[in-house]
Amino acid sequence: PEQRAELIARIKRLLKEREAVLVAHYYVDADLQDLAEETGGCVSDSLEMARFGRDHPAKTLVVAGVRFMGETAKILSPDKTILMPDLDATCSLDLGCPADEFTAFCDAHPDRTVVVYANTSAAVKARADWMVTSSIGLDIVKHLHEQGKKILWAPDKHLGGYIQKETGADMLLWQGSCLVHDEFKGVELDLLKAEYPNAKVLVHPESPANVVAQADVVGSTSQMIAAAVNMDADTFIVATDNGILHKMRTAAPGKTFIEAPTAGNSATCKSCAHCPWMAMNGLQNLAEVLENMGNEIHVDPEIGKLAVKSINRMLDFAA
Ligand code: 13P
Ligand code: SF4
Repeated sequence: PEQRAELIARIKRLLKEREAVLVAHYYVDADLQDLAEETGGCVSDSLEMARFGRDHPAKTLVVAGVRFMGETAKILSPDKTILMPDLDATCSLDLGCPADEFTAFCDAHPDRTVVVYANTSAAVKARADWMVTSSIGLDIVKHLHEQGKKILWAPDKHLGGYIQKETGADMLLWQGSCLVHDEFKGVELDLLKAEYPNAKVLVHPESPANVVAQADVVGSTSQMIAAAVNMDADTFIVATDNGILHKMRTAAPGKTFIEAPTAGNSATCKSCAHCPWMAMNGLQNLAEVLENMGNEIHVDPEIGKLAVKSINRMLDFAA
C-alpha cells in the first residue's frame, strides 16, 4: 500500500484537479479531518456539514462520514456530485428505522407532528414534517411544544427521551439507538468522576439517560468541542465517539481528555467508543474515489423533493 504521506499528497492534488471539496465529520480518521481543514473543506457536526455542503460552490463534494450525511448533501444540492469513500458506511439508527415500518407508525398517529433525527434514510426524512440534528433538536421540539403540538419522534430513544424530559413535550418515541453511545455506562462514569473530581463531563445526547444525567454539558459534537475549548477546566470526561478527541486535543492543547467508560471489555462492548461505519473512511478509499469519481450518492428525485422540506424547516429555524 502507498505510504501515508504519498496518499495525502495525492488526495490534495486530486481535490484540486477535480475541483472537489472534502466535508468530514469529527468521528472520521484524524488524517481525513486535517485534510478537510487544510484544503478549504470543513470538519464539523452534521448540521454544519449540511450547511457547508449546501453553500459551497464546488460542483463535487466528497463526504467523509456515514451515508445519511452524503444523502443530506445530495438532497440539499441535487445538481452537485456527492461522493463517499465507502457507500456501505451506514448508521445503526438509520438501519433500525426502515421506511415502510416508519410510515406505518406515522400513519397510525396522524395527529402528531413527525420529527426525525438526521441519522435516517432519505425516505424517512421524506415522510417527516421536520428533520433535526443533535445541536438543534431540543430547541425545535421546545418550539413545537409551545405551539401545542404532539410529537412523533424517531429513531433515537435516548435523544428523544432527553428532549422529552427537558421540554415536557408529549412525545411518542421510536425505540432506536446508536450502537456506539448506547455502550456508555452510568455507574462506571460515576466511579470515574470520583477519581477526577474536578473534571467536567461532556456528553452526546445519544447516550443513555443515566449518563446524560451526569453531564455538565450535553450537546452535538461541535457543541462538545466548543465546551472543551471555552469551559474553565483542565480535565474533561468525554462520552462520545473517541474520534472527537483529535479535534479536542488540538483545539484545547494543555487540557486533558478522558474517554467515558463503556461496557468495560471487548467481549461485551460492540463498538468500544468508535463507530465502525465512520471507521470505513480512510486515506486509501478517499484517494480512490477521487481518482475514479466513483461511489456517487444518488437519491430518488421524488423522495428528495419531499425530504428537502423537512431539512429546510430546520435550516430556516436555525438561520
Ligand atoms: P452530530 O450531529 O452531533 O455531529 O452527531 C452525528 C452522529 O452521528 C453522532 O453519533
Ligand atoms: Fe450512527 Fe452512532 Fe455511528 Fe453516529 S456514532 S453514525 S449515530 S452508529
